[in-house]
Amino acid sequence: MSLFPASLPKKGSTFDIAIAVALLAAAEAVSPFSCAGLTLVGELGLDGRMRAIPGVLPAVLASANAGCQTVVVPRANAAEARLVPDIEVVPVASLRELLCLLRDEPPPTEDDQPEQASTHYGMDGLAPRCPDRRTDLDLTDVRGQAEARRALEISAAGGHHLFFSGPPGCGKTMLAERLPTLMPPLEPEAALEVTAIHSVAGTLPPDQPMITKPPFHAPHHTATRAAIVGGGSGRVLQPGAVSLAHRGILFLDEAPEFQGGVLDALRQPLEEGEVRLSRVEGTARFPARFTLVLAANPCPCAAAKQMDCSCAPGIRRKYTSRVSGPLLDRIDLKLELTPASRAELRYDLEFAESSEVVAERVLNARERAVKRLSGTPWRTNSEIPGPELRRHFTPSGEAMRAADEALQKGTLSARGLDRVLRVAWTIADLADREEPGDDDIGGALALWNGRWT
Ligand SMILES: Nc1ncnc2c1ncn2[C@@H]1O[C@H](COP(=O)(O)OP(=O)(O)O)[C@@H](O)[C@H]1O
Ligand SMILES: [Mg+2]
Ligand SMILES: [Zn+2]
Repeated sequence: MSLFPASLPKKGSTFDIAIAVALLAAAEAVSPFSCAGLTLVGELGLDGRMRAIPGVLPAVLASANAGCQTVVVPRANAAEARLVPDIEVVPVASLRELLCLLRDEPPPTEDDQPEQASTHYGMDGLAPRCPDRRTDLDLTDVRGQAEARRALEISAAGGHHLFFSGPPGCGKTMLAERLPTLMPPLEPEAALEVTAIHSVAGTLPPDQPMITKPPFHAPHHTATRAAIVGGGSGRVLQPGAVSLAHRGILFLDEAPEFQGGVLDALRQPLEEGEVRLSRVEGTARFPARFTLVLAANPCPCAAAKQMDCSCAPGIRRKYTSRVSGPLLDRIDLKLELTPASRAELRYDLEFAESSEVVAERVLNARERAVKRLSGTPWRTNSEIPGPELRRHFTPSGEAMRAADEALQKGTLSARGLDRVLRVAWTIADLADREEPGDDDIGGALALWNGRWT
């Protein structure tokens, strides 16, 4: 059997009920007029029950955009489908129930119904990976580390990429995992985008149809290139980690341990905010606008103190070079951490600001940026394209002196200057200043120049 249009490849079980209803209409079991203008999506079990499918949200969005007014979905997908405004959602539990609806007959009684299918998708053995929803983390857990906390705050406020290096045990993972606690909830449009991606990926938490928090996605360093940027075997294209982290954070812990090519594959989505996957049938695109956070030990032996390191210089160099120059060039904030002192670990508790306090400043800074950027498609400083930045957002000459000097000395590239300027705006926003001053630019420069051994 072929489905119109035949030139478009189709996959999965999404079309089961549409096919079933078309056959029933052809057999005159239902009137073809009763299904006119209906969108039907869902998988059909052999017992006639309707099973949940991934990708309901984008399917319903597309139907609404195509002018369709009613969509029939498996009951377990109803909450997700109802996120789309201006379209009537008709949830059904079985083909039988749908038949009754189409024939204007009373619905089947409970006894006639097959047992309710679970919300989980029919992809056997593949339990959906829910986006991280830990709520027990707080910045107060971190003692000392003032600079690293400040870098987290700047990253959260402006969406700037971040790299923590330093010896094992100094708190890199701990700090990175607390970045989401500083970020404001997603705005409605972003929430819908994020939810649509997770709907396609089958990673929507069943009890929470709309994702409202920025995702935090931390793939293990054994992840394949396809798992990171997306892809998959044959015609089945799956969004990768870069898309699951859309509008949130992609955290690559132990960055140099990732397989060859994986880190460099991040450059294209980092530049374009979306990922392009080539297939015989053409190019697929998934949104991929994320904040990248990297963490790394300075060498593979993971000695806690440099003097205990047993790595030959060549080995160390090879290890650090795995986070390549071109990738480092795209990271705004680079920080080399040292372990918190014993005094800090013991006494700093009462001075440590909570996530709530910092998140408040982040929100204020973001509101400032949104106001300044009103009338543009950008919401955060990190999104402002280079030419636009240079035309409209270059601070006065006096403040730019340090940056100009670095440019002349060749320690700062043109791309670097753009990144430094964006971060300087975020630092000014956090301080409630109209425009970055020389201190803000100096601070941004220092973070840009952070060492990676
Ligand atoms: N500044 C700190 N404040 C509180 N605990 C810390 C700090 N630094 C390290 N720790 C403790 O050390 C453990 C290891 O930290 P971790 O973030 O895993 O280090 P890294 O990722 O740099 O190897 C943490 O779970 C925490 O218990
Ligand atoms: Mg770690
Ligand atoms: Zn070593």
